[in-house]
Amino acid sequence: MALRHIVYEGDEILTKKCRKVENFDRKLAELLKDMKETMIHFQGIGLAGPQVGMLRRLCVVGPFEDRYYELVNPEIIKAEGEQEGYEGCLSVPGYIGCVKRPQSIVVRAQDRKGEEFEYTFEGFPAVAVCHEIDHLDGIMYTTKAVDIHRPEDRPDEFTNSEEE
Ligand code: CO
Repeated sequence: MALRHIVYEGDEILTKKCRKVENFDRKLAELLKDMKETMIHFQGIGLAGPQVGMLRRLCVVGPFEDRYYELVNPEIIKAEGEQEGYEGCLSVPGYIGCVKRPQSIVVRAQDRKGEEFEYTFEGFPAVAVCHEIDHLDGIMYTTKAVDIHRPEDRPDEFTNSEEE
């Protein structure tokens, strides 16, 4: 098990746009495996390349109905509806903020071998995937959120939030 160091808000790497993944090699597979372990270790439900210092278009999310997803070069090809809810970020520990996101999305992405898939995410998983794809474009949720606060200031809301 290899945990990666998490990059925190304030580090300019989090505001940079990531490059496409082009090499589907062993290094990529190891990175994705480490990212999943790191995400689970820190009790997140999503982790994107820049958050572990890699300016590459990839992220891991989950578990959603017991399933984890590796999204390499993900693109939102369809977005419908709207939802608003609190989200957090492993790069901004201790805070949550309210963001508007689509209710459902269809994402086209590759896996670690380069094979292409389309996934539909609805509800909270759609929030998580949008949050991670934003990271790949250097967009932090804190630039979109309103009402950013420490969850202990509103204990009733903390139970509904998870860190991405
Ligand atoms: Co995040």
